[in-house]
Amino acid sequence: MSAGDPRPIGMFDSGFGGLTVARAVIDLLPFEDVVYLGDTGRYPYGPRPLDEVRGFAHQIARRLVEEHDVKLLVVACNTASAAALDELQAELPIPVIGVIEPGVRALVKATRNNRVGVIGTVGTIGSGAYQRAVADTASEVELSCAACPGFVEFVERGETDGDQVVVLAERLLAPICEAGVDSLLLGCTHYPFLARTISDVVGRDVVLVSSADETAFEMLSLLQWSGLARDHTEGPGRHQFLSSGEVGWFRELGRRLLGPELSAVESVRW
Ligand code: DGL
Repeated sequence: MSAGDPRPIGMFDSGFGGLTVARAVIDLLPFEDVVYLGDTGRYPYGPRPLDEVRGFAHQIARRLVEEHDVKLLVVACNTASAAALDELQAELPIPVIGVIEPGVRALVKATRNNRVGVIGTVGTIGSGAYQRAVADTASEVELSCAACPGFVEFVERGETDGDQVVVLAERLLAPICEAGVDSLLLGCTHYPFLARTISDVVGRDVVLVSSADETAFEMLSLLQWSGLARDHTEGPGRHQFLSSGEVGWFRELGRRLLGPELSAVESVRW
């Protein structure tokens, strides 16, 4: 019997949002070690030029591979996936998973009326990555996209409901409502924290799809078929959190968003 691969899984995001993916990974793969890097020192990625985000993604990926010896990398950020996933997959010596394809697969599966929506940051929607990923499924669906500038900032301030966020959501989601979609992909790692507000605005009968669970399931099957899974007899996995910004803030807000596994945060410098 194989002894498994004890190396950790590497994950990164511009900040806190990827913790939604980390939560799903920790729940589904409790025996895996995880190293999560939140690039809060350079957050947010959404409004930045894609070339710049691509540079950050390469730098973080190198750091996780060279200093943490990760066996698999998850780009747990839609904007970074849109900017750099293909290049990272081609260049790194380890498997690399993004959040876009898993989310799109779930979206296409969820629809009944073949009208689907994707919302994300300006960078993600503007990149066309979701439009291409939906086209690649060769399904018959009609896609409506909307960028939602401002949503991320509300989440980062811990304001996930209240009048202001509802007013913004009503304005930004109007094209999605008009398109009559029955399934809506939350194409930004922060948006699951706004699920209730988004659902109130688009209607309770619209299925909200989050890529976090789908990405974790994709990792599960990859670890199983590649023989990279950690040996269960080694005990529960360890979780390490790194931030390029203020670590006290990362620990406080991150713990609220992820849960008790986020007990200590180490600082990274570029
Ligand atoms: N993590 C980013 C994403 O999923 C959202 C936050 C940001 O703009 O950096 O697109």
